[in-house]
Amino acid sequence: MSAVLKMNEAIQKNDLIPFTRPCFSENAIRYLIQSLESNHLQGDGNFTKKCHLLLEEITGAQKVLLTHSCTASLEMAAFLIDLKEGDEVVMPSYTFSSTANAVVLRGAIPVFIDIRPDTLNIDENLIEQAISPKTKAIFVVHYAGVSADMETINKIAKRHNLFVVEDAAQGVGSYFQNKPLGTLGHLGAYSFHATKNIISGEGGALLINDEKFIEHAEIMREKGTNRSQFLRGEIDKYTWQDKGSSYLPSDLVAAFLLSQLEEMGEINKKRLIIWDMYQESLEPLERDNYLKRPFVPSDCSHNAHIYYVLVNSPVIRDDLLKYMKANGVQCTSHYVPLHSSPAGLRYGKTSGDLSVTNEVADQIVRLPLWAGMSSDRVVEIVKLLNTYFRA
Ligand SMILES: Cc1ncc(COP(=O)(O)O)c(C=O)c1O
Repeated sequence: MSAVLKMNEAIQKNDLIPFTRPCFSENAIRYLIQSLESNHLQGDGNFTKKCHLLLEEITGAQKVLLTHSCTASLEMAAFLIDLKEGDEVVMPSYTFSSTANAVVLRGAIPVFIDIRPDTLNIDENLIEQAISPKTKAIFVVHYAGVSADMETINKIAKRHNLFVVEDAAQGVGSYFQNKPLGTLGHLGAYSFHATKNIISGEGGALLINDEKFIEHAEIMREKGTNRSQFLRGEIDKYTWQDKGSSYLPSDLVAAFLLSQLEEMGEINKKRLIIWDMYQESLEPLERDNYLKRPFVPSDCSHNAHIYYVLVNSPVIRDDLLKYMKANGVQCTSHYVPLHSSPAGLRYGKTSGDLSVTNEVADQIVRLPLWAGMSSDRVVEIVKLLNTYFRA
């Protein structure tokens, strides 16, 4: 019996349906033991190398470097494109703090714009009006693992000579026009946080899609030294070369991650079955105008990272969250828009109206979803939603 199934049984005994649960297989434990026995627990050991190769093979990125989080990958990206004091970066307000922090840490200014009401991704039609002579980059977020319109965004970036960085924290295993998310911009950032599809507790990766960044990225990730070249036997000692930090994970983390990457297809397939069940069963509630379901554009294939619904008012949203909790189901809202957060007000600015962002933030409800979740649980949750709206 696989560990994923064992974990699922434990949840069946628990009264509360959790929002998410980490799932892993026996290989995770086997690789962790191998890593412990290898006597190489620091970063860039054999498991890290295997993860790099597998991720490069899966995504086709020029180079992949494991980091300790998506946050770290975004910070590296902001550093690599040489963001400086006063530069501006256009990004959606509906995202996690890390997207903006990476920019602010370089002294640059996030320029928050609104999202599309259908995909909840950056509204590509609002980007150009947010661009000024100070704009250096567009940071794109692929919400719920569904791609932003990268075709239009890349055209705009080219026209204005801007960098494109993809915050693909949620997009591991998703595609836009058959290309993996994280490989469509100059740089991409993945998250392997325990709440994501593919996990290592904390963890991330930087995808480099332009060769010119590779050497600098390796130095930056290794405390500003050329240790990566030394480990490959290209030089006989390593020294401090440039500004940097420590962005690499332990090989123990990579050992766990390798088992997840090898099972990515299976994990995402299991999640998609649950996602599709929700999508089909909730169609009548959308038809009767009680809620709106997610929309996936035809040129996107997604990894079922999040299943959410949008209800008709903030009052209903808060009430529904309480109702689900009282009935043993843990549902959650999501981001507090960055443009209205204390740090967003201090460090960022806005372009245009952000009413879609504000509405979505007040009306979203995310439903439980994890790879080992049973279909009985979905039936139970859908039944509760029907009782709530139709009673
Ligand atoms: C869009 C987005 N970017 C970045 C992050 C940060 O990821 P990590 O926890 O791996 O640093 C998250 C986390 O949920 C996220 O949703």
